[in-house]
Amino acid sequence: MLMNNTSKLIVGNWKMNTTLPEGSLLLSRIIKELTNFTYPELVICPPSTHLYAFSKELEKSKGPLNIELGAQNISEHEEGPYTGEISATMLHNIAKYVIVGHSERRKFFNESDAVDGKKLQTAIRHRLTPILCVGEDQQERSDGHAKQKVLDQLNTDLAHVTSQEIKDVIVAYEPVWSIGTGNFAKPAQVEEMVWLIHNNLIEQFGKMAGSKVRVLYGGSVDGENARNYLNIKGVDGLLVGGASLNYKQFAKIVRASA
Ligand code: 13P
Repeated sequence: MLMNNTSKLIVGNWKMNTTLPEGSLLLSRIIKELTNFTYPELVICPPSTHLYAFSKELEKSKGPLNIELGAQNISEHEEGPYTGEISATMLHNIAKYVIVGHSERRKFFNESDAVDGKKLQTAIRHRLTPILCVGEDQQERSDGHAKQKVLDQLNTDLAHVTSQEIKDVIVAYEPVWSIGTGNFAKPAQVEEMVWLIHNNLIEQFGKMAGSKVRVLYGGSVDGENARNYLNIKGVDGLLVGGASLNYKQFAKIVRASA
């Protein structure tokens, strides 16, 4: 848990939604909705086709509301014959964050922990802040294997990260059964899992470094429940999917976190 800074990090993951014109409109509506609102760090992860235009747009509108950009994925490779992939270098100066190991990438694109571990390394090497997603699916929870699943993901994905590097990594706990389902995780379930993560990070990297890592929660977060999740001890912010595509909902979530 981030001990020396109480501000929460809100990240909007737009996934594969919006054309560039639609996305630009949504971004401008979010900015307008939060005019005069002071916020240290809000992150939007639009489709990669939007990043360059958004970075130019945000340069113009820098104010008390600080919006940073994140990519939804990167290649583990530096460059070369990897058709369709986006390298970390390509994100220089247009994104500060990158989501790694989202459950949709693990499920639909067969990303393994080993690959996600490499993506994490690549992001760190290029000074992109990785947001590593971990979480169990419904079957794993029903079978009583939720904790083991998350511990396995953390231990494998972070195996080659040093205690110097871990401070710049963010972990998001996203139970797969709650993503896009409206199947809300109970605060007690979230609290149990975020502390499992905090404790694992301290175990792997020591108290000094491990306790500096921010742990976010994600899964059916909306304007109504955001505050409840943010009030859970150990939750340092939110990773929002569907509700980040609705500027009024998203602004409500941001306001709840101030
Ligand atoms: P929802 O907020 O739509 O459940 O998605 C969460 C998520 O996957 C964010 O990365």
